[in-house]
Amino acid sequence: MQDSYRKHFPVMLSEVLENLTPHDGGVYVDATFGNGGYTEAILKKADCKVIAIDRDPTVLPRVQELKDLYGDRFDFCQGCFGNISQLIQSPADGFVFDIGVSSMQLDQAERGFSFSKSAALDMRMSCRGQTAADIVNTLPEKALADLIYQYGEEKKSRQIAAKIAAYRVAKKIETTTELADIIYSVVHRTPHGIDPATRTFQALRIAVNHELDELENGLNAAIELLKPQGRIVVVSFHSLEDRIVKTIFRDKSGHHAHVSRYMPQNTLTQTSDLVNVSKVILPSQEELELNPRSRSAKLRFAQKR
Ligand SMILES: C[S@@+](CC[C@H](N)C(=O)[O-])C[C@H]1O[C@@H](n2cnc3c(N)ncnc32)[C@H](O)[C@@H]1O
Repeated sequence: MQDSYRKHFPVMLSEVLENLTPHDGGVYVDATFGNGGYTEAILKKADCKVIAIDRDPTVLPRVQELKDLYGDRFDFCQGCFGNISQLIQSPADGFVFDIGVSSMQLDQAERGFSFSKSAALDMRMSCRGQTAADIVNTLPEKALADLIYQYGEEKKSRQIAAKIAAYRVAKKIETTTELADIIYSVVHRTPHGIDPATRTFQALRIAVNHELDELENGLNAAIELLKPQGRIVVVSFHSLEDRIVKTIFRDKSGHHAHVSRYMPQNTLTQTSDLVNVSKVILPSQEELELNPRSRSAKLRFAQKR
C-alpha cells in the first residue's frame, strides 16, 4: 500500500499553487486529498491551514502521516465533496478540486477501475454502495446504452449494451477483463489509439460514483463558501467534467448562456459571485513528458467577487 502511495504525481501542481495563491493565515480546502500532493504543497507554500476531503477510506494512513507532520494546520474530513457545505462550516480563502481517480486507485487492481488486470468489477471510490458489476448486471439494456453513450461518449454504446445484455442471460459479469472482452467483441483493439474499453469503463465509473452530480454540487457549494477575493481552482480530466466547470464559472460570473434580452447586462454583472474567470490552462510540455497521466488535464480557476 505504501509503495502505491508514491505513484501519484500531483498534476499541474505549480499551476495550482500559482493560481490558488496560498498566503499566511489563510484556510484552504483540498476537496480531493488523494495522496495529499496538493495539501502538502499548500502547507509548505504558506503558514496556512488546509482542510482536506476524500471519500476513499484507503487514504487514511497518508492523512495520519500529514497530521503527524503538520499538527493543527491540517484537518481531514472523510466524505463526498458534493456535501461540502455539511463538511466545511466556515468560509475559506481557497478551494482546489483535482477531479477523478488517483493513480493509487487505478493501480490497485482490486479496486476494479482498470481493465489491464483481472479483478472484481467494483469502481467504488468510497468502497460503499452500488458497484459497476451491479450496474452492468441489472440495468435494462436501453438504460445501459444511454449511460455508456452519455458518460462515455461511446458511439457504439447500443451494440455494447446489446452484447452485455446477451452475455448476462447465461452468466453474471463479474470481472474487469470479462467486461473488457465483451467490449472488444464489438470495438476491436488496434495497436495505436486508446483502448476501446476506456470509454465504457469511464461511463461506469462516473455512474457508480455519481461524479457529475458531485462536481456540480461541490463547485456550487464551494463558491458559496469562498471568502471575498478567495480563489477556486479545478483540474479536470475529460470533456464532461470540463463542461460543468466552464458552465458554472461562466454562469456565476454573470455570463449566462441564455441571457434575457429584457435584463440589462450590468445587472447580471453586479449580482455575479465570480470575477477573473480564467481560460483553460493545459499542462506544460515538460509535465506531459514526465507524467503521461497529465495529458488530458485542464485547469480553470476563478476568484470570488
Ligand atoms: C486525482 S486524485 C487527487 C490527487 C491529489 N490532488 C494529490 O495530489 O495527491 C482524486 C481523489 O479525489 C477523490 N474523490 C473523487 N471524487 C470525490 C468526491 N466526490 N468526494 C470526495 N472525494 C472524491 C478520490 O477518491 C481521489 O482520492
